[in-house]
Amino acid sequence: MSLVVFPFKSEDPSLVLGNMAIAAANDAIDEVWAVAAEEGAGEKAVDRGAGEISRAHLKPVSVLLQQRLGKLRPGKGDAMNTAIKRAAEDGWDRVHFYDADITNFDSSWIDGAEAAADNGYGVVRHRFPRAATDAMITWMITRPAFARIFPGTFLPRLDQPLGGEVLLTRSAVESLAGSEMVRERSDWGIDTVLTYTTSVMGIGLYEHHVADGKRHALYGSLDELKEMLIECLDAACSLDGLPGPGSDARHGSDPASDPPEDLKRIVAYDIEGSRRLLGKVWPEDEASLVAALPDEAAGRLLSDGPDRVFGRMDANLWYEVHGLLLGRFVLGDPSWESLAFRLWLMRVLAYTVQQASQGYDEAMGYLRSTVERYETTASSC
Ligand code: LAC
Repeated sequence: MSLVVFPFKSEDPSLVLGNMAIAAANDAIDEVWAVAAEEGAGEKAVDRGAGEISRAHLKPVSVLLQQRLGKLRPGKGDAMNTAIKRAAEDGWDRVHFYDADITNFDSSWIDGAEAAADNGYGVVRHRFPRAATDAMITWMITRPAFARIFPGTFLPRLDQPLGGEVLLTRSAVESLAGSEMVRERSDWGIDTVLTYTTSVMGIGLYEHHVADGKRHALYGSLDELKEMLIECLDAACSLDGLPGPGSDARHGSDPASDPPEDLKRIVAYDIEGSRRLLGKVWPEDEASLVAALPDEAAGRLLSDGPDRVFGRMDANLWYEVHGLLLGRFVLGDPSWESLAFRLWLMRVLAYTVQQASQGYDEAMGYLRSTVERYETTASSC
């Protein structure tokens, strides 16, 4: 028995309903839920449409309201945990999660995940090509964190550790429902924590490849990602010191394929608008936090305003800065939050100007080899 869940908040109801209808039409799927962040016009519209989809496909299709289960900002984590809790109570064999904003969702996502579960994998994650300037939290925060904390395991090599597209089998759903770390993570950090927790369950992890990429709304200036950035950073910090998957952990993956040509040309965010956010001078509170870096690194950053020195934030300097953030960042502290965002912005812009501009293949090769280098550096420490 398989269930599909779409957490949603402010996505266009017709997009959410279109995806729900695709899920309901799949023979492998017995029920579909959408989990709404809050009551309101969007939630009402999806609820009305859910009734129609249910009648058309003769299976239950409904909207749940997310419960307050966690301890952090009430967000996507509460939505996913609401579904995990109820699915565990109902005893579902398989639960698929998909972000509601996917614009190229089709049955092949569900079929691919079901096939991997049929082959005995306890967790299936979807992987997909993304634009060279997309996935900037994944590439600059999460994969480097996995490389430093869990070198030599499959975690740093997971393609989409922040992806909300995942299939969980019953034992995974039950363990997640019983995990305090997962339940407390009510914000954007949920994907990081789910990726980590499912990797140490010993039930096998498969990455299913979606060749067309995940198409979704891209961004304006990068301040749209600030909340996600600091919450994903905090989630990564929370994993420091925890045991990683064992060397015998079962991990399989579809091979990657050549990404679609149009995806290679997409610029995922507004470069000029983001550059204007860097600022001309370092705020005093932030400068004093940066001063905790080794002298040479602090000197390179503080010798001029952020908008003039951002180009110095290469992979080596970022390794030092990322280490400082991982060890010292404090969620809820305005100085740390503002600094983490400014430093990440400098890194993303430096990479965009210096590497992403060289072309898609060069940029992706650079990002992959940087994470590998971080992993080697971390394991030799
Ligand atoms: C990421 C977010 C931005 O993967 O989607 O980095």
